[in-house]
Amino acid sequence: MDEKSLIATFDCGLADITAFLHDDALAYQSEKMANTYLFEDGNKNVLAFFSISNDCLNDLGEEKGFNNNIWNRLHRALRLSNPKRIRQYPAIKIGRLGVHKDLQGSGIAYQLMDFIKGWLILDHKPACRLLILDAINQPKQLKYYDRNGFRFLLKSDESAKTRIMYYDLDNLNA
Ligand SMILES: CC(C)(COP(=O)(O)OP(=O)(O)OC[C@H]1O[C@@H](n2cnc3c(N)ncnc32)[C@H](O)[C@@H]1OP(=O)(O)O)[C@@H](O)C(=O)NCCC(=O)NCCS
Repeated sequence: MDEKSLIATFDCGLADITAFLHDDALAYQSEKMANTYLFEDGNKNVLAFFSISNDCLNDLGEEKGFNNNIWNRLHRALRLSNPKRIRQYPAIKIGRLGVHKDLQGSGIAYQLMDFIKGWLILDHKPACRLLILDAINQPKQLKYYDRNGFRFLLKSDESAKTRIMYYDLDNLNA
């Protein structure tokens, strides 16, 4: 089965995210903008997917409110000693993620996130401290990321459509 037919039946219930997998994921991959990985069952059904790219959390976000308070809060959360308190943290961004709508609530979403975290720690060669994403600002998505250890970076995006969240990959060494 080719890649296009493999992903064609996937539906996570959110049109934008499903459409990304159907229409854009392969092009993003060939342009080296984002790599997409699939969770499949033995019958080649796609159960879940995620797309990731390299990123960096840095001061370029100043206009979004990345002021001293935000950095101080982040430094405390990361428990970094003073000399290591820079304003540029290597990160991986989860651009899109979805679980098939028939499997939501089954626990597979937690397995998916555990897999992403473990795999980045084991297989990602350049150093990477944070997993970051723009979470849809809805109870289901926020609760899912909170339960998976993600924290809000900002307070100023409380009413925005999406909220920046981060996970400290150093938690996996604790
Ligand atoms: C977000 C997503 C991956 C979560 O997977 P899921 O299988 O639905 O996750 P769960 O059903 O285990 O729900 C996660 C938590 O949210 C809670 N939840 C589910 N629906 C909820 C709702 N409507 N309101 C509030 N909380 C909700 C669950 O109770 C669960 O909390 P728990 O751990 O205390 O039980 C999945 O819903 C999905 O693919 N959604 C469409 C695409 C999407 O939103 N991607 C993320 C973009 S940021």
